[in-house]
Amino acid sequence: MSLQIRKITPHFGAEITGVDLTQPLSPEMEADIVSAMGDYGVCVYPQTGLDDAAHIWFSRMFGNLWTVSGIGTRKSRFAFPHLFEAGNLNPDGSISADETARARRKGDRLWHTDSSFTKERTTYSLLLAHEVPEEGGETFFADMRGAYDALPQEMKDRIETLEAEHSYQYSRMLAGFPITEEEVERMPTARHPLVHIHPGSGRKSLYIAAHALRIVGMEKEEGRALIKELLAFATQPQFTFGHKWQAGDLVIWDNFCTMHRGGEYDDVNHRRDMRRTTVMAYPPPPVVMDPRFSDRFDPSRFEAMVHD
Ligand code: OGA
Ligand code: MN
Repeated sequence: MSLQIRKITPHFGAEITGVDLTQPLSPEMEADIVSAMGDYGVCVYPQTGLDDAAHIWFSRMFGNLWTVSGIGTRKSRFAFPHLFEAGNLNPDGSISADETARARRKGDRLWHTDSSFTKERTTYSLLLAHEVPEEGGETFFADMRGAYDALPQEMKDRIETLEAEHSYQYSRMLAGFPITEEEVERMPTARHPLVHIHPGSGRKSLYIAAHALRIVGMEKEEGRALIKELLAFATQPQFTFGHKWQAGDLVIWDNFCTMHRGGEYDDVNHRRDMRRTTVMAYPPPPVVMDPRFSDRFDPSRFEAMVHD
């Protein structure tokens, strides 16, 4: 069995078939799957037939999974702490229509990359659709390596050594969550370079998100204007595509070389059951450390992503 790869855009995104993700995979197949992430940044696996346990089991080949337990006091709807609620359902399975939940979800409709607001960060997100609305509810992706490559040299020089500070509460504030700028300022942030080497490919990539609330060492307004300009540049149509979900689809994106955002849908009247596993940035996926695949992976690039 070998992977069948259909490019979604000329430069990033691929639909992959020819593999049954519910079954154990050979080391070569795992290397192909991780390698495809390095090449395409977003890989769509249609109609996988994965259930929660198989979703988690498959995700573990990408590295250690982030666990959701302990976020606030919200109860999870899932039996596993590795699953993150990316849909609109309450623990009892009913639609969560209260304003707080809706405002929190609205934050996911801004262009972002997952967990940039943490020091440790996450590389891959694996989002599995269980139930989707007929209209809307797409997920859109942006190619941050392609966008970086296309920046004018002057801008590349300007941002080469800059760092941004990221805050989860800041993006919620932008989305209308009832929190003040002063409260956001008191919350934890994480600092990361605006430009980095993408570990999966060795190419340079922009690293920004709606979570970015300031550029280190710059006046707040000037920094925000720069972030806004870069976000607008990187999300032009030539760098983006949307995925219209069907139940069973798994989409994996690499948070170090893409951004994403959720599309609008009638989230009060239509169910959207989406579950996500998320892979910690370090240590790297086991296959990256496997000497048989040293021509494809350079472990030191993954190690470089963890910094003070
Ligand atoms: C996510 C996310 C958007 C969507 O799961 O990280 O941003 O369309 N999801 O569900
Ligand atoms: Mn997200």
